[in-house]
Amino acid sequence: MTDRYAVIGNPIAHSKSPLIHKMFAEQTVQDISYEKIEAPLDGFAAKIDELRKAGYKGCNVTVPFKTQAYQLSKEFASAEAKSAQAVNTMGFDLTNVVYGENTDGIGLINDIKNNSKIEFNGKRILLIGAGGAARGVCLPIKLEKPKVFCIVNRDVKKAQSLVEEFRGLGTSQIEFRQSTFEQLSGNAFDIVINATSAGLTDSEIPLPKNIFAPGALAYDMMYGRETPFMKFAREHGAAVISDGLGMLVEQAAESFFLWRGVRPETPPVIAALRHP
Ligand code: ATR
Repeated sequence: MTDRYAVIGNPIAHSKSPLIHKMFAEQTVQDISYEKIEAPLDGFAAKIDELRKAGYKGCNVTVPFKTQAYQLSKEFASAEAKSAQAVNTMGFDLTNVVYGENTDGIGLINDIKNNSKIEFNGKRILLIGAGGAARGVCLPIKLEKPKVFCIVNRDVKKAQSLVEEFRGLGTSQIEFRQSTFEQLSGNAFDIVINATSAGLTDSEIPLPKNIFAPGALAYDMMYGRETPFMKFAREHGAAVISDGLGMLVEQAAESFFLWRGVRPETPPVIAALRHP
């Protein structure tokens, strides 16, 4: 019997997840269906109940419901989901939500390590932003044991509270700190990750021009077009520039693995999405 899955968001029309999971299922010969479902803004929990009772096995959750998904699956949430306070992957049975996971962070790490072949260990990492997207990757980045992990945000208090919250998690051998954009001057980083929503409005991020160390990676979690951050990186010496398409596919692969117990090959799927 075909096992049913879905991605739930609002809006959801743009989602590439059904296409990604279709490619994974074909590649690994899994009998699943995967559709996109728009839940009303005030109707997420009811939609989950409906899917569960209809026999769906699980779902992905996207904007704006990841925090609500975490609330629903709190009891069963993983360490990653707890630290992100957000869930993007749920598993159900007919009577209950059985797990809540957040695969965004591991998706980012896997994309950078496996697809760009760049390690975090011993490196200087700059994370730009201190909202939900940044929070979701703090623990996975710390667990990679970078040498320096700096979080910069316009509102530095938010960066500071993330640093305070995550200081005790993972290893303490890391120089872990917050920064204002002004304080970045004179510092260079090996991996610079844009987790702000600035790209959505085509806004510049006020980075100093020497922010990229020789060989540095500039990574934008957004995908679809060159953001002002990626353009800045191209013009200011970043050696490798990546958008977030690989992260999207890698987080989906982790969800697929949780549901199906098989790990799909991601490079052909990333290539197919990049060159349709
Ligand atoms: P998300 O869930 O996408 O992370 P969010 O929680 O609203 O969204 O967080 C948005 C992040 O992008 C914040 O870190 C925000 O900075 P502030 O906290 O200082 O507002 C950051 N951001 C948005 N637009 C930005 C811009 N033009 N320049 C720099 N940072 C920006």
